[in-house]
Amino acid sequence: MAITFNEAQYPQITNEEINKALAFCNEQIIHILPEFTDKFQKAYSEDGFYQPIENNYWTCGFWTGEIWLAYEFSKDERLKKAGEVQIHSFMDRIVNKIEVDHHDMGFLYSPSCVAGYKLIGSEEGKEAAIKAADQLITRYHPVGEFIQAWGPMNAPENYRLIIDCLVNLPLLYWASEESGDNKYRDIAEKHIHTAVANVIREDYSTWHTFFFDMETGAPHHGATCQGYRDGSAWARGQAWGVYGLATAYRYTKRPEYIDLFKQVTEYFLNHLPKDLVPFWDLEFSDGDDQPRDSSSASIAACGMLEMIKYLEPEDAEHYGKIARQLMKSVYDNYAVKDMETSNGLVLHSTYSNHSPYNTCNHYGVDECNSWGDYFYMEALTRLSKDWEQYW
Ligand code: GLY
Repeated sequence: MAITFNEAQYPQITNEEINKALAFCNEQIIHILPEFTDKFQKAYSEDGFYQPIENNYWTCGFWTGEIWLAYEFSKDERLKKAGEVQIHSFMDRIVNKIEVDHHDMGFLYSPSCVAGYKLIGSEEGKEAAIKAADQLITRYHPVGEFIQAWGPMNAPENYRLIIDCLVNLPLLYWASEESGDNKYRDIAEKHIHTAVANVIREDYSTWHTFFFDMETGAPHHGATCQGYRDGSAWARGQAWGVYGLATAYRYTKRPEYIDLFKQVTEYFLNHLPKDLVPFWDLEFSDGDDQPRDSSSASIAACGMLEMIKYLEPEDAEHYGKIARQLMKSVYDNYAVKDMETSNGLVLHSTYSNHSPYNTCNHYGVDECNSWGDYFYMEALTRLSKDWEQYW
């Protein structure tokens, strides 16, 4: 039985609230544009405020994506100009291979360059994004049939995929469509199949990362990196799974992904605390002294809003309503409402929380982060119109 949230306790975000929320995002983005046109946002805020950085981190595309979403909302020419400046920077980055030897080419180039191409016909954006797709497929392992996330390609300790990568793959589908060359799509499809077959556990929680045998390509073992421990469900990993399965279905139309989407989503929803915004790992809930990851709520909402395009009407209504309920809580309880508090859009997100059992460093905990802001805007935009997506 699918989980539902009682409407009296959990109202849906209204169209008026969506419009108000997007208006604030637009205003905030325009306000900080002078500092963040030639520079990009750091991945996470410190005490609520982002510092400017060069275009050299895996998260920089989200900021450009926010600029494009704001441009869609207001059609303000200052946003368009800033977006074009940033596309130029992304071209420079891929031509000069600045910090591009990892799998996050989709996160970098879809919301920035593909978006700029789709919205304003930027040829530079198109060219840069095709180059990024070429870069991404260099990380494909034909034996294991997956795209390696991080690190040098010839090291067994790096021979793994991560669940997040599913949302990097729309770049490859787009590249095949634009170029007429199926090589990108073929690799994406192989990776999706390998990832989906291995990262989803029997109870439909998910592994963050999954290792394979370098000689044979056989599945080896799952492990966490950013979750609390091996075997727990890192909230954002589960949310990437929700969105990743929706895009996997969008592009492959494999019917078995519909059920997997429902099950992985149910696991996520069944582990939410009272206000529907997850703690950073789904192992934690109300009463635990642990930080939230508000970005996971917005990412999962985007996944549900994507998937409802392909579901039967009753299921579509179900997930559409839940997405609105989640976004109501994000808007009411987590969104920035005044510029004195923060130069970001959504508070209480967690990037990388060290635990005694994981392998990640400690930073960006209980702060805004760039993708939390971006997917908040994407979810609101999806709710406000029939959105032509960047992914
Ligand atoms: N893709 C890395 C993260 O979600 O933190």
